Amino acid sequence: MTKFTVLSGSSSEDLAKKLAKKLGANLIKSQLRIFPDGESKITLMKKPQKNKIIVIQSTYPPVDEKLIQTLAIISKAKEYGIEVVAVIPYMGYARQDREFLPGEVITMKVIANLFKSVGTSKIVVVDIHSMMGLKYFNIKTKNVSAIPDLAKYFSKLKLKNPLVVSPDQGGKERAREFAKFLKTESISLEKRRDRKTGKVKIKSTSFDEIADRDLILVDDMISTGGSIIKATEFLKKQKCRRVFVACTHALLRNDAEKKIKKAGVTKIISTNTIPGKTSLVDVSSTIAKAII
Ligand code: R5P
Repeated sequence: MTKFTVLSGSSSEDLAKKLAKKLGANLIKSQLRIFPDGESKITLMKKPQKNKIIVIQSTYPPVDEKLIQTLAIISKAKEYGIEVVAVIPYMGYARQDREFLPGEVITMKVIANLFKSVGTSKIVVVDIHSMMGLKYFNIKTKNVSAIPDLAKYFSKLKLKNPLVVSPDQGGKERAREFAKFLKTESISLEKRRDRKTGKVKIKSTSFDEIADRDLILVDDMISTGGSIIKATEFLKKQKCRRVFVACTHALLRNDAEKKIKKAGVTKIISTNTIPGKTSLVDVSSTIAKAII
C-alpha cells in the first residue's frame, strides 16, 4: 500500500498528477458538474485507500466556487482517510487578512475556520500573500516558497547584469532571496495603494543601479496587473534594458497580460499554482518536499 493518496480537485489536475508522481502516490480525480443554478456537484472517481490523503485544489477565480468545492472534497476525503492534508497552491482571500478600513470582514479568518471544521489536519500553501493569513488556521500550516524554482528558471536565461526588483516594500525579502539565487543584487520600490479605489502609485524617486541592466520584477501575484504596470513604467523611465516579470500566482484578470506587455514587459513567467500561458515553472517538487 502506498503511503499517500493524492485527490485532485478540477482546478489543479496537472499539478496533482505531477505531485502524485513525485510522492509515488495513488492519484484520484474528482468529477465536477455545475448545476444550472450555479451549485457544484462533486464526485470522487475512486474510493481512496485508508492512508494519508492529500487534497489538492487551487482557489483561483471563480474563488468562492473553488473554495466551496475544496471544502466539499476535503469533507468527503475525511470520511475515508485518517489524515487529510489540504494543498492549496494559490490561496484566495489571503489579501483579506486584516481590517484595513473599519468594518471590513477578515474573510481569511472565516475561511481558516471552515478548513478546520471540514476536518483538515494540515494546510500547505505556496507563497501565501502574507504569513498573517496563516495565523488564523488552528491547524498545522506550511507555506512553501516558489522563489528557488522561479530563480532557477531565470538563471538559464541570458540576462545582462540582472537586477531583481520588488514593486513594493512588502516584497523586499522575496526579491532579496531571488537575487541571492542569481548571485546578484535587489532593490525595492515604494508603492502606495489607495484602499478605496485600489489604484497604485510608485512613490520612489530614482535608483543609480538600474540603467542598462535587465530587470526582474518579482511579486507573489499579479491580479489586475496594476502594480507591475506602474513599476514597469517607473523602471523604463530609469533607462533600464529589458523588464521581465517573475511571479508565483498569475491571476492575470481581464486583459492584464496585454496591458503589462504594452507597458514594456518582455516576458511574464509564473508557476503552475495557476495553470495558464505564463505558468512555465513547476512547483510539484517543492510541494512534495513539504508533505514527506
Ligand atoms: C500586493 O501587495 C501584492 O503583492 C501584489 O503586488 C498585488 O496583489 C498585485 O495586484 P495587482 O496586479 O492588481 O496590482
